[in-house]
Amino acid sequence: MSVLNGKNILLGVTGGIAAYKAAFLVRLLVKKGANVKVVMTHSAKEFVTPLTLSTLSKNEVFSSFTNEENDPESYREPKWNNHVELALWADLFLIAPATANTLSKMAHGTCDNLLLACYLSAKCPVYYAPAMDLDMYQHPTTNNVFEKLNSFGNIQIPAAFGELASGLVGQGRMAEPEEIVSFIENDILKKLPLRGKKFLITAGPTYEAIDPVRFIGNHSSGKMGYAIAETAAQLGAEVVLISGPSALKLESDLVKVIRVTSAAEMYNASHEYFNTSDVAILSAAVADYRPSEVAIQKIKKKDSELTLHLTKTKDILASLGEIKKNQFLVGFALETQNEEENAKLKLKKKNLDLIVLNSLRDMGAGFQTDTNKITLIGKDNKTLPFPVKPKKEVAKDILEYIIEQTNA
Ligand code: CTP
Repeated sequence: MSVLNGKNILLGVTGGIAAYKAAFLVRLLVKKGANVKVVMTHSAKEFVTPLTLSTLSKNEVFSSFTNEENDPESYREPKWNNHVELALWADLFLIAPATANTLSKMAHGTCDNLLLACYLSAKCPVYYAPAMDLDMYQHPTTNNVFEKLNSFGNIQIPAAFGELASGLVGQGRMAEPEEIVSFIENDILKKLPLRGKKFLITAGPTYEAIDPVRFIGNHSSGKMGYAIAETAAQLGAEVVLISGPSALKLESDLVKVIRVTSAAEMYNASHEYFNTSDVAILSAAVADYRPSEVAIQKIKKKDSELTLHLTKTKDILASLGEIKKNQFLVGFALETQNEEENAKLKLKKKNLDLIVLNSLRDMGAGFQTDTNKITLIGKDNKTLPFPVKPKKEVAKDILEYIIEQTNA
């Protein structure tokens, strides 16, 4: 899955011959799973029509501050095209093709069209793909503009060598749409905060067999662990998810999933991957006890009572805490009373770097819900409470804490 999947991309199109390639760019970005909106200058419309770009992006194309300006012939309810809203909607702003004229205006803060107003309002990363003739591209003023724009944090996608509209051959052609898209993908990947980090995550319940058809289990859905695994992978981590029996399917193909059933299997799989991990997050609801003996045949009902003898399972988290070297080890605590006190004791006893506390007394927290309410408690014993949030947001909060701590 592309890192552009689900991203909001604002494409700025300016008036150069390469503007016709904007149609291919929109198509490619949409294929990658991005939501694309287009803002174009008036002169760009000479090269590619707004209708083409709106059809491909499945979104309205903007070029004026009001919709009246777009269509002065027919009266429409006046509407302001809010450049601030557009710019803030965007996770990234790509200006392609970027003409010498627009680039110079961007460098100097000119704001005489909607595209430039979006640029000045944007808080997201801005990529620009210059397109101009080779002498223009090499002109000291243009280089000065590039330097200035790059010093503002804008990211330049170098122009390609080749035949130019003038008939001359040299550098100045806008990079091909495929090159632009892979440039951005690589740039995002390279800057992901968890790039190069190896994560081990446990999730879901465990089932402890009583006989061939029965088991002891719990209500864990695995939602929290799966959300952490997917979010960590999106942030660049190499993730191994050790999952107990869960009906969930991963949305992303970036995570390696190892399926296990019992606590003993989860223990073995966790130990196999722990040594090579940088971070281990144990969110599984592991059974604390298992039947001491597993009946080979199905147990027939006979007496009015049946006694099962249970044996403690090995505590995976505590065992990893014992052998931990540089790994950042995270445990969960689901408590019903004296929550903070119990969680702090667990943190210490199991030699953790972070414990994620959920209280069953909190509305919106727990096993089968799509939301969770957590409090993070670090090694420094500081508590960091969060409001009820969707589990994907909770996953982000936990990972942001880990990123902060491991980079500290
Ligand atoms: N855990 C584990 N292996 C077990 C039991 C628990 O790895 N056999 C991990 C869970 O994945 C979770 C944390 O330990 O990260 C939660 O432990 P919890 O069951 O809440 O607490 P316990 O230490 O088992 O203590 P108690 O049951 O008394 O609350």
